Amino acid sequence: MKIYHESDADISFLKGKTVAVIGYGSQGSAQALCMRDSGVKVIIGETEKLENSENPSWKRAKEDGFEVYNIGDAASKADIVHILLPDEFHGPVYKAEIEKHMTKGKALCCSHGFNIVYKEIVPPADVDVIMVAPKAPATEERKAYLAGFGVPGLFAVAQDGTGKAEQVALAMCKAMGFTRAGVLKCTFEQETYEDLFGEQNVLCGGTVDLIKYGFEVLTEAGYPPEMAYFEVLHELKLIVDLVFERGIQGMNAVISNTAEFGEYYNGPKIIDPSVKDRMRESLKLIENGEFAKTWLAEARAGKPNLLKKRADWAKHPIEIVGKEIRSLFEKK
Ligand code: NAI
Ligand code: MG
Repeated sequence: MKIYHESDADISFLKGKTVAVIGYGSQGSAQALCMRDSGVKVIIGETEKLENSENPSWKRAKEDGFEVYNIGDAASKADIVHILLPDEFHGPVYKAEIEKHMTKGKALCCSHGFNIVYKEIVPPADVDVIMVAPKAPATEERKAYLAGFGVPGLFAVAQDGTGKAEQVALAMCKAMGFTRAGVLKCTFEQETYEDLFGEQNVLCGGTVDLIKYGFEVLTEAGYPPEMAYFEVLHELKLIVDLVFERGIQGMNAVISNTAEFGEYYNGPKIIDPSVKDRMRESLKLIENGEFAKTWLAEARAGKPNLLKKRADWAKHPIEIVGKEIRSLFEKK
């Protein structure tokens, strides 16, 4: 894959253009602040009230010195409409407030391809449809930008209405510092499917269950929960940091020979090849739209299952002991 760097991107493609960042949450605030610091004209589209109470994001955007409009007004004033709302709201908000402002020559942008890929949003043919996405959480993105660098990113073009869609997407990547680290070009489908696969099978689903079962087996056998917490959660970060910095062999070179032998001896009994069959099944449900259908139906029903799981987790002993331990060991 080609990696795009500083010299491949030109911020002047954003000159004279207004970017409306729709949604001033985690990504919205980080991306808007970085682009503004790079000299791009950025306005914010938000809702003053969410579920009948004050929306803190509206207030925060004002405090950060942005012009803040309701979503429709921001979309009408903008050349580039960059939607950074939670994914489950893109479709309904687009239809209600943004669609009528997507006139010829504008660009519709996002940081996750979900709603374009699953056709929750179907933009008119004469606009650009682009994606610029950091490969990092928002906090890291802003920190790296302020340190004079940037996090790696992805960009994609689903539709080139103006003939300049790629240059505009790259200019946005540059304005957020991504091209300092390096940016990969992909398709909307690749980003969406890989992102969902990763979070469901390894990063969130997968890892969280492994931690949970490890903790439960130790504590049910009578081992102290505080120690179990350190073994299966706290130390996981240290191991993942090593893998991140040095690769798997590099991590194995640092741990003890006993730990490395144990990894080969027991790892494949815990995560056996049948896991791959279930991962393939998951990939199929992502690619054929079945997962998206299930998630959007859940979101529209008020997220009953998600809220139930959240409430269950709040009661789990690893969360209770974890909170205590983190407060005891934090820097005072
Ligand atoms: P978020 O959860 O921080 O929410 C963004 C803002 O949307 C909120 O501040 C709120 O003011 C507004 N909002 C919430 N519900 C709304 C509604 N019903 N109507 C109108 N406005 C509403 O969102 P986050 O996590 O920043 O995600 C935004 C986009 O960025 C998503 O497409 C996500 O997939 C993508 N993304 C997020 C990453 C992350 O680190 N959180 C990483 C990469 C991509
Ligand atoms: Mg992801």
